[in-house]
Amino acid sequence: MMIVFDGIDGCGKSTHARITSTRLCSSGYDVELLKEPTVESPAGKRLKEALESGKRPEPMEELRLFVEDRRWDVEHRIIPALKSGKIVVMDRYYYSTVAYQGALGLDMGMIMDMNSFAPRPDMAFILDIEPEEGIKRIHRRRNRDYFEELEYLRKVREIFLSMKDMAEVRIIDSSRGIEGTEAKIIEILGNDLGI
Ligand code: TYD
Repeated sequence: MMIVFDGIDGCGKSTHARITSTRLCSSGYDVELLKEPTVESPAGKRLKEALESGKRPEPMEELRLFVEDRRWDVEHRIIPALKSGKIVVMDRYYYSTVAYQGALGLDMGMIMDMNSFAPRPDMAFILDIEPEEGIKRIHRRRNRDYFEELEYLRKVREIFLSMKDMAEVRIIDSSRGIEGTEAKIIEILGNDLGI
């Protein structure tokens, strides 16, 4: 089984991916919590260097790097974990690629096609928050990077929200605080996946 947490920067996806993983572990499930972009693959390392230097690659090159990184992740971590019967919990997945690289003007159908090798998750939570609030949350923790400019994040959010009709996607209002959001996630996982 595979569960994804995604959304704009500062939406709380990493927090809820962690909380859900811990909760499922305590219930006796074997859980693997994975984060994308990875820092292990050659493409993931290139992306990290780009972020650290502040030099953003050309859109098509950036897209290619995120997809290459995912290909590595699917082959080396996701498929093996699924095969061994684990519940895979993802902190970001191809929904981020459609939203962030789509917001650069790249064709979203093409982005989906380039990701067709990646297994489709059983459930994808997209945590929704106003970009202003997301940026505020990030600022308390660290300096922002080029993914975190307000106008850009507005476009990214709009694309995330447009995914509402995909069968596995659940859009969750994440502005209510951690506990309210967690309660909603627990309810949906129980009702829809029986876990
Ligand atoms: P990440 O290190 O996960 O940052 P955070 O912990 O703040 O979520 O990701 C860095 C940035 O990469 C993030 O702002 C979103 C972006 N991103 C894409 O643009 N496309 C993608 O496919 C993925 C997975 C991430």
